[in-house]
Amino acid sequence: MRLILMGPPGSGKGTQAAFISRELEIPHISTGDMFRKAISDSTPLGSKAKEYLDSGRLVPDEITIGIVKERLAESDCRQGFLLDGFPRTVAQAEALDEILKGMNIELDAVIDIQVPREEILKRLTGRRMCRECGASYHVVFSPPAEAGCCDKCGGELYQRQDDTEETINKRLDVYHEQTQPLVDYYARQGLLKNINGNQEIQQVLKDIGESLGRSLV
Ligand code: AP5
Ligand code: MG
Ligand code: ZN
Repeated sequence: MRLILMGPPGSGKGTQAAFISRELEIPHISTGDMFRKAISDSTPLGSKAKEYLDSGRLVPDEITIGIVKERLAESDCRQGFLLDGFPRTVAQAEALDEILKGMNIELDAVIDIQVPREEILKRLTGRRMCRECGASYHVVFSPPAEAGCCDKCGGELYQRQDDTEETINKRLDVYHEQTQPLVDYYARQGLLKNINGNQEIQQVLKDIGESLGRSLV
């Protein structure tokens, strides 16, 4: 399947993507993870992206569209893919339409995960991420078996630099201004699935599966 996961910061895109990509055997493509990897590897892309991630603003479209176009051309995307956090602007969505047209393929669905703002703040201030594999944990809602250590790969857990209250608020504003309009964009194309993200992780996953007509749990 060819899927997009949308939703505000902290709505659970990364958490759900890990399950969906494993179950459907499709690559999980997170532009945020790609930028964070580039920053930690100190590549030219990383040095361009860093100031945007740190301040909670969007990386310019031409940079972001370029890396997604290259990634979708890789062979593991032939059987499908799950985009997490892309597109985030109307220009990115239009560029994606062009890229897919050029590859002669179409999207199957756009999953929009909705979570209220107060819940988002609780989730992001308690989030911990794995430095090695990018898995997301939460000190209260989804703790690892051993504090500070990833269940999946044993990697070190850390707190994201943009998970401070000030930057979270900036990211939420950016989301409402620049990304929210895409909900209508995809609703008009008949692709949109609305999911209540303010439930247990497994229930959200079950609802996503039902919206796709596939069992994911
Ligand atoms: P990105 O990495 O995409 O961040 P984001 O959109 O802000 O979303 P998050 O990753 O913070 O949240 P999530 O929805 O994945 O939630 P998670 O599953 O981790 O982007 C970062 C930055 O990169 C952007 O600000 C921008 O600068 C740049 N960027 C990325 N894409 C771009 C693009 N297309 N264009 C331009 N710039 C771009 O869950 C959060 C927490 O909640 C975790 O602790 C988790 O354990 C917990 N949790 C999850 N589900 C539940 C649940 N159901 N109940 C309780 N807790 C839960
Ligand atoms: Mg994420
Ligand atoms: Zn890990």
